[in-house]
Amino acid sequence: MQRPRPRHVALVPAAGSGNRMKSGRPKQYLELLGRPLIRHAVDTLCAAPDIDRVYVVLSVGDQEWDRYDWSALEPKLVSLFCGGASRADSVLNGLRAIRDDMADSDWVLVHDAARPCLAPWHLERLLQTLSDDEVGGLLAVPVADTLKRDDGHGHSVETVSRERLWQAQTPQMFRYIMLRRALERAREVTDEASAIEAAGLHPRLVEGDATNLKVTYPLDLHVAEWILENRAR
Ligand code: C5P
Repeated sequence: MQRPRPRHVALVPAAGSGNRMKSGRPKQYLELLGRPLIRHAVDTLCAAPDIDRVYVVLSVGDQEWDRYDWSALEPKLVSLFCGGASRADSVLNGLRAIRDDMADSDWVLVHDAARPCLAPWHLERLLQTLSDDEVGGLLAVPVADTLKRDDGHGHSVETVSRERLWQAQTPQMFRYIMLRRALERAREVTDEASAIEAAGLHPRLVEGDATNLKVTYPLDLHVAEWILENRAR
């Protein structure tokens, strides 16, 4: 008998405060081309035919989400007000909140709300490369620059080899149960792949590109705007 196709769901942690943007407003709601930043990635995820559902994890006290009209993306888009103190806590709380809707082998694609330039071809490449993978993996880009370690006072003490180094991006795609168990054991991680590595497994690095940048500092917002505008042309 043929096994049913595992489902793909996206989980977007969006419960951060975005302090490094210095805007006084959570960065997922900063305006980017007339829309809240988070809307861009959520639109791309909702439009992807292979993604069955898109969950957004918001902070418990989020006051902004309901000020926008999301009805065009429903019922595929579902909001969960269960964010935690760290990104890993927000993802784990989200995974726990959806447990009744998930089979153990369903794929979860965790994508930062702060990466608005996710494109359909990024998703296609990730899904295609990982469809038969035992572990799962993530979009990433090989490091191009020479890397330096400082002495804590702005002077270089060491050149770090860039050989075999990659910059991790999102989405990061793993089986539901594998990811939940890994995050339950490794809480101090900054991405899902680190939790999977801590469990002794080796996530696949799927080469993406630099346009899938994370908006962290004010300048990033302008770069993201430029990317989206030029793509639309
Ligand atoms: O702050 P940073 O850019 O690393 O956040 C990455 C993603 O994790 C963002 O989408 C942010 O909203 C989310 N996050 C979260 N809960 C936290 C901290 C960050 O969902 N407590």
